[in-house]
Amino acid sequence: MTERWYKNGLIYEVGVRTYADSNGDGSGDLRGLAGRLDYLAALGVTCLWLLPFYPSPWRDDGYDVSDFYGVHSDLGTLGDFVQLVQAADDRGIRVIVDLVLNHTSDEHPWFQAARAGDPAFRDFYVWADRRPADAESGIVFPGVQKTTWTYDRKARRYYFHRFYDFEPDLNIDNPVVRAEMEKIIGFWAELGVSGFRMDAVPFLIEPAGARGLAPGPEFAHLHAFRQQLSWRHGDVILLGEANVEREEIGDYFGVGGLHMLFNFTVNQRLWLALAREDARPLARALAETAGIPASDQWANFLRNHDEIDLGRLADDERADVFAAFGPDPDMQLYERGIRRRLAPMLDGDRARLELAFSLLLTLPGTPVLYYGDEIGMGEDLSLRERESVRTPMQWTADRNGGFSTARQREFAAPIVSKGPFRYAEVNLADQQQDADSLLNWLHRALRARRQCPEIGEGGWETLPTGNASVLALRFRSGERETIAAHNLAATPRRPNLRLSGSAGALVDVFSDRPYEPAGERVELGPHGYRWLQVRA
Ligand code: GLC
Repeated sequence: MTERWYKNGLIYEVGVRTYADSNGDGSGDLRGLAGRLDYLAALGVTCLWLLPFYPSPWRDDGYDVSDFYGVHSDLGTLGDFVQLVQAADDRGIRVIVDLVLNHTSDEHPWFQAARAGDPAFRDFYVWADRRPADAESGIVFPGVQKTTWTYDRKARRYYFHRFYDFEPDLNIDNPVVRAEMEKIIGFWAELGVSGFRMDAVPFLIEPAGARGLAPGPEFAHLHAFRQQLSWRHGDVILLGEANVEREEIGDYFGVGGLHMLFNFTVNQRLWLALAREDARPLARALAETAGIPASDQWANFLRNHDEIDLGRLADDERADVFAAFGPDPDMQLYERGIRRRLAPMLDGDRARLELAFSLLLTLPGTPVLYYGDEIGMGEDLSLRERESVRTPMQWTADRNGGFSTARQREFAAPIVSKGPFRYAEVNLADQQQDADSLLNWLHRALRARRQCPEIGEGGWETLPTGNASVLALRFRSGERETIAAHNLAATPRRPNLRLSGSAGALVDVFSDRPYEPAGERVELGPHGYRWLQVRA
C-alpha cells in the first residue's frame, strides 16, 4: 500500500497577495504564484497551502470572506485558480486551501440579508435580544477586540462574533447553513484541491446555544464534512487549526475526524526549549501528543502567518520565551504571542536557524514552512498586529525586491526595505547563487529528509541522552531506521545514545558518509544536529 500522501513531503504556506505580482498592480496574484512553481518544486515543496484568496474587504488578511465561491479580483480569477492547480499538479505539487467557515465578513450578502430581517437568512447567524452576560469572555484577540457580542443597529439585536466584530459567526446549528458549508467544500474539491486548512475548528463546531459552556463542540458536524469528502474525494484531507488541550485532541482525530492537526503544543514548547536551551519541555510535548491514530498526522511548524501563541505556557515559561525572542512590548501581541518572523527571532544566527529547521524536519509529523522563512526574511514591526509577518516575498536585490513592477505605495503590503533583513540584503536570487546560503542549506536538508521517509511514516521513540540539552529521536518503519539528535545548547555535547543496539552501519545523512561514533557517543557542536540512518 502506498503511504498516505500527507505523511511525507513539505507543505509550503503562502499568502498569494504578497508572493508574486504578475500584472504590475502591486498585489500578488495566482498567476504570479503559478510562475514560481518551478522554484517551489526544486525546493522540494509537495503541497501548497494557500491563505485566503477569496473576495473580501480584507480587514483580517482575507479571513473575512464575502464570497466563498470566488477569487479576490486583485488576486485573479477562478480560471487562474484552476490553471494554478493544474500547473502545480504537473510538478507533483498538491494544493490545499484555507476554509473559513466559522464566520463571514459582515459584508457577505448572507449577513446583509440577515440583518435586514430576511427570514431566509436570519438564522444563518447567532443573535441575542439583550447583551449576554458573558459578552466579554472568550475573546480571541485581547486588546484589539472588546467583546464577542456586538449590537447591530439595523437588526436591532446583538450578534455573536468569536473574532473581530466585522466577522459575525455562522450558526452551524442551522441545517441550511451546514448544507451551504458542504456546497463550499464540494465546490473547491471539484476544482481539484487536495485538502482544506480548516480555520478555527473548535469554534466552528461549537453549538450556538453553548458558546463556551457545555455541551462543547459538536463533532457530528465535523464527521459529516469528512464523510462528504470520503465518499467523493478519497484523498482530499482536512488539516485543522485547533489549538486545544491535549485531552481534547483525540476527539479531533480518529474515525471521521480530521486527517491532520497543527501541533500547537509542540510549537509552544519548542520555543520554550530553544529559549532555555533545554530539550525536556519539547520531549514532554512530543510525549503528550504521541499515539495518534496511524492514519492521522501532525503538521509541525516554526512560524506561520499569525503570532506565535504562547497561551498554553505557564507565566514564567512565557516570560522566558518573550525575553529570548521578543523582548520589546512591540514584538508581543494579544498578551500571549510574538509577532516576529523566524530569522530575526534567532538574530539571523545561522547555527540556530539550522537547528530550528533541522528540528522542524525531524519532529514526528509533516513539516510546514512559511513562505520567506527559507531565505530568512524579517518582519516589519511598524505594521499593525500580525501584518508584521505578512510582507512581500523578497525575490531579488533589484527594485521592489522583484515582487512587483508597481510603485511601492501601491503595494498590497510594504516590502521590508530597511534594516538587516531588507530585500537588498536578504533575497532569493542572491541565495541561489551562493552555495553556502541558508536556502541552499535548506535544499540539502530537505533532500536528506526525503531519504528518511520513516520520519514521517514510522513509529518513533525518544532516546535517553543523559543530557538535558539534547533531544534524540529514533524513527523506525519496517527495516528502516533513523536517529535525529539535536543539541539546544550553545556549547558542544557528547550524548551517549547507546547506538550499538542498532543493527547495521550508521550513515550521517547530511554528508552521506559512514559515521563512527566515539564509543557510544555522538558528537554535537554548539546548537549542533546529526541525523544518522542505519543501513544494512
Ligand atoms: C485563524 C487564522 C487567523 C484569523 C482567524 C480568524 O486563527 O489563522 O489569521 O485571524 O482565524 O479567521
